[in-house]
Amino acid sequence: MSDNRSENIIIAVPKGRILEELIPLMKKANILPEKSFFDNKDRRLLFSSNIPWLKIIRVRSFDVATFVAFGGADIGIAGFDVLREFNYPELYIPIDLNIGVCHLSVAQPKNYNKNDNVQLKIATKYPNITNNYYAEKGINVNCIKMNGAMEIAPKLEMADKIVDLVSSGKTLIANDLVEIENILDVTSHLVINRTAFKTRSEKIRDIMIFFREALNEKNS
Ligand code: PRP
Repeated sequence: MSDNRSENIIIAVPKGRILEELIPLMKKANILPEKSFFDNKDRRLLFSSNIPWLKIIRVRSFDVATFVAFGGADIGIAGFDVLREFNYPELYIPIDLNIGVCHLSVAQPKNYNKNDNVQLKIATKYPNITNNYYAEKGINVNCIKMNGAMEIAPKLEMADKIVDLVSSGKTLIANDLVEIENILDVTSHLVINRTAFKTRSEKIRDIMIFFREALNEKNS
């Protein structure tokens, strides 16, 4: 790969839920990953596509922005939550793909009755967004950084509240939590490494056009 890295464009796509919505859009954009990309048992992370110069990496949704910011990938599909959490200046964010619609919220136990004047402990995957959000309100919080399952943290008395993504709301209900504040509306965006955009603009612009056309088709 390193031999022809500069000739290839690498697109980072997220594993999991978003991928299910992304694949139909990629098909409309006529970006077709090789067959083994769809085999979840395949442990490879780098795949080819129907476009000879376009390679695809399949990574954790939280890591897409980092892969693109550090130039491991040139393009990525990343949630607005992750983009705001990392705030990488290296990223250009030209297209809202309007998939992965959800929001980032504060939630607390149904029977919450704690005095908010004490320092709140908040379990979250998003310490930067959470600290900024509360700092603007003049509230000092203690974030406990977690990578998942934070919905159980208040019940276990290790946190007062959580800040996490809400889609259907089922996970909150199942864990006796209620949403109290919406911090950020989230969709997935096409993101581009700014340096790659300058040095390999022709191919990257082609990919942007493919996605824009697919979105127009979707909306028409
Ligand atoms: C996300 C999020 C919540 C859940 C919300 O987790 O962290 O736990 O989805 O969805 P809902 O409102 O439809 O119940 P996800 O299942 O993507 O897995 P993760 O915790 O591994 O990120």
